[in-house]
Amino acid sequence: MKRNHHRMPLFEKLKQFTAGQPLSFHVPGHKNGTLFPKGAYPYFEQILQLDVTELPGLDDLHTPTASIAEAEYLASDFFGSDHTFFLVGGSTAGNLAMILAVCSAGDKIIVQRNSHKSIINGLELSGAKPVFVAPEYDEELDRYTNPSLSALSEALRKHPDAKAVVLTYPDYFGKTYPIQEMIDLAHAFDIPVLVDEAHGVHFSLGDPFPVSALQLGADVVVQSAHKMAPAMTMASFLHVKSTVIQKERIAHFLQIIQSSSPSYPLMASLDISRSFLATLHAEQVTAILQSVGNVRNALQYAYYGKVLSTDDPLKITFHVEQGISAKAVAGLFEERKIYPELITHNQLLFIHGLAPFEQVEVLKKTIKSVGEQLKYSRNHATIEVAKLFSKPIQELALSYQEMSKLPYKRVSFTEGIGHIAAEAVTPYPPGIPFILKGETITAAHVETIEQLRKQGIGIQQREQGIRIFSI
Ligand SMILES: Cc1ncc(COP(=O)(O)O)c(C=O)c1O
Repeated sequence: MKRNHHRMPLFEKLKQFTAGQPLSFHVPGHKNGTLFPKGAYPYFEQILQLDVTELPGLDDLHTPTASIAEAEYLASDFFGSDHTFFLVGGSTAGNLAMILAVCSAGDKIIVQRNSHKSIINGLELSGAKPVFVAPEYDEELDRYTNPSLSALSEALRKHPDAKAVVLTYPDYFGKTYPIQEMIDLAHAFDIPVLVDEAHGVHFSLGDPFPVSALQLGADVVVQSAHKMAPAMTMASFLHVKSTVIQKERIAHFLQIIQSSSPSYPLMASLDISRSFLATLHAEQVTAILQSVGNVRNALQYAYYGKVLSTDDPLKITFHVEQGISAKAVAGLFEERKIYPELITHNQLLFIHGLAPFEQVEVLKKTIKSVGEQLKYSRNHATIEVAKLFSKPIQELALSYQEMSKLPYKRVSFTEGIGHIAAEAVTPYPPGIPFILKGETITAAHVETIEQLRKQGIGIQQREQGIRIFSI
């Protein structure tokens, strides 16, 4: 039966509830927005009305039976899952829950090495024994992408007892790869595939966007609705379509990981974003693509770099010419109030929204004036990152159980070479650890970190140096 995707059951219920002008003798403490500092109130006014709690008729995220259940059902219908969970803790919560649902302490799990830290943190929480498969270095794109089919195949042959394969698809830059072959291969070993599709919520729109891993047979797929669709920050989906992974196990871990007071505005924004995606017309998609073309053309005029091609049309990667620092280029854009999503040592990532971009003329002017200023402030930079993930298949030097019992100390990065890291080192964004907790620190790691630092690329770290295990 065809569902009506213009419907937004949760959002509608919330509107109905607030229209009744309810009086609050319950949490949250802002009392439907009546108790809020004056200076901030005008900014929060509308949203506070929706920021309610599990009142009669408003359902409960952790045991949904009414409007949340209906909203999740419509999402599952649009995305094509057996069951879809609303997440209020980002894809982070989904990634943690899917890993915890498939493995316990000591279980093997095959994981793409350049995964987001939420995947790596899930491994540590579960106490699993990860087998990492290294990504390939794409010379043309000048960065790491996905693991090869042959590397995954070798990992599966060596570790047929693994509980799952965890892949990331697409990457931050919208690059996809033949993931279906990998899913089929893992399934041939009776191993389920979990996919971090944080950047691909719009893939279910169909052509010209790539196909979602969910349609390609993945067992669990996690998507940050807030990254590419009109949803509030943290609002995300977890889809299950599997004969081996039980949704009850995932529900169990989600209620452990996520708040017992999930935000209704966030959940309603998931309902709204599903409806937005499901009701987008072909003509609207054409207008979006036209606009993407305009933005790409504008960037193509910049003499200080080139626009790379990618699979997801909404991701526009500008590769800065050798000898110019991407950070410096980004800084000049930011001074002019244009903010890219991500800056690496050599690339700037611009994310186009799911609507035409109206300010192409402003962008063109900015591109030109950045170019003029750059002539006077060149900042030379060459960073060699191609050797970071050199071993095709790698395990940690210590198990998480061993690590939890060992003392550690903090040393300088250089002193750390040859020792086992007791913490991860993660440039953010994209949030992919260069060094993992439990990995042996190499000279290549330290050299890259120093170069990135000089380039002003942020690394998530509270203290200087690195913790190593004292063994
Ligand atoms: C590949 C990938 N996975 C997971 C996440 C975490 O997503 P969230 O911010 O929704 O928790 C991110 C965030 O940037 C990401 O890039």
